[in-house]
Amino acid sequence: MTGSEALTRGLLAGYQHLVRPALFRARGGDAEKIHEDMIQALGLVGHVPQPVLGLGTAAMARRSSTLVAGIDFPGRVGVAAGLDKNGVAARAWAGLGFGFAELGTVTAFGQPGNPKPRVFRARESRGIVNRMGFNNEGATALAERLDGWGVRRGNRALGIPLGISLGKTKVTPLEDAVEDYLTSLRLLADKADYVAINISSPNTPGLRSLQDGEALRELVTALVAETRELDPSDQVPVFVKVAPDLTTEALDEVLATCVEAGVRGMIATNTTLARDGLVGQDRSLATEAGGLSGAPLTVRSREMVRHIAETTDLPVMGVGGIMTPADAQAMFDAGASLVQLYTGFIYHGPALVRGINRLG
Ligand code: FNR
Repeated sequence: MTGSEALTRGLLAGYQHLVRPALFRARGGDAEKIHEDMIQALGLVGHVPQPVLGLGTAAMARRSSTLVAGIDFPGRVGVAAGLDKNGVAARAWAGLGFGFAELGTVTAFGQPGNPKPRVFRARESRGIVNRMGFNNEGATALAERLDGWGVRRGNRALGIPLGISLGKTKVTPLEDAVEDYLTSLRLLADKADYVAINISSPNTPGLRSLQDGEALRELVTALVAETRELDPSDQVPVFVKVAPDLTTEALDEVLATCVEAGVRGMIATNTTLARDGLVGQDRSLATEAGGLSGAPLTVRSREMVRHIAETTDLPVMGVGGIMTPADAQAMFDAGASLVQLYTGFIYHGPALVRGINRLG
């Protein structure tokens, strides 16, 4: 074992045996409060000093950067949407070893999300059930925060490329969805290295119907056209994030529409409505409304990534159930250009990021 491998193992063991148990017990075990505390703390720390943790750029430097949709990614593992909805901790992600971060999902107008409790840990299954419902401060607040740090597309003000995930405000009727997304896009386009269109959250009523036929065509065509309008010489690339519950036929339709509309890449997948991955005591969570993430998604997300990679030329960000570096490797082998973490990061901490960076 090299010294570096020993450090990775030590970090993993330290997180799992010391930090995680303490974190999961804190705040009376309220998963959402603990998450909020963690994000606020990272926000206060600001830049995490990489040499101290040994997690950051040095580990990334083992491989050359990855060019996807014209963006130069210094590392292949990123923060998944929802982890840092308001960008509060955006300055910390590079120092924790991430090669990019997808902030949001934000909506045109700030909103409180669904009533609490709305996040449930499924520990035996290594998953999370959530029905947050896009609680966020709104696109304007994120734009102002990023402006304050001097973030502009391509300038790496925070050390890594930033994606921004856009969703629909709950009170906006579905027929006005396009305008809602356009409002957010106009506020944030010049700060994003890429924009992700989130039409796959299960927690905003009707949102997933935007993955269907004409509705999808109208939405993505309008958004791509607006990126051209906003900056003809440096269009922000648009990615589309899909649900794991799409049938292959429905996915193929989505892909055809995305290719035709000029979408630059796909993100697969969001959380699932399926509950068959819940084991043991966690089965009691089967009746909780919301999306399931983590280990129960590993195989399904990877199969969707494989299908997209095999049937289109669109680059794919693989997300869903990456709990170990081997899961990330399998996602790359399935055709993902990049991967993202949410639940795996909650369960295994920064050592998982480091382990993925070291895949070479
Ligand atoms: C999410 N996810 C998510 N996705 C998204 O596009 N916008 C969002 O706002 C959120 N919010 C969110 C909150 C919580 C509590 C969780 C657990 C997840 C989905 C996330 O980005 C990812 O696609 C899935 O969780 C699958 O990846 P993991 O968690 O298995 O690594």
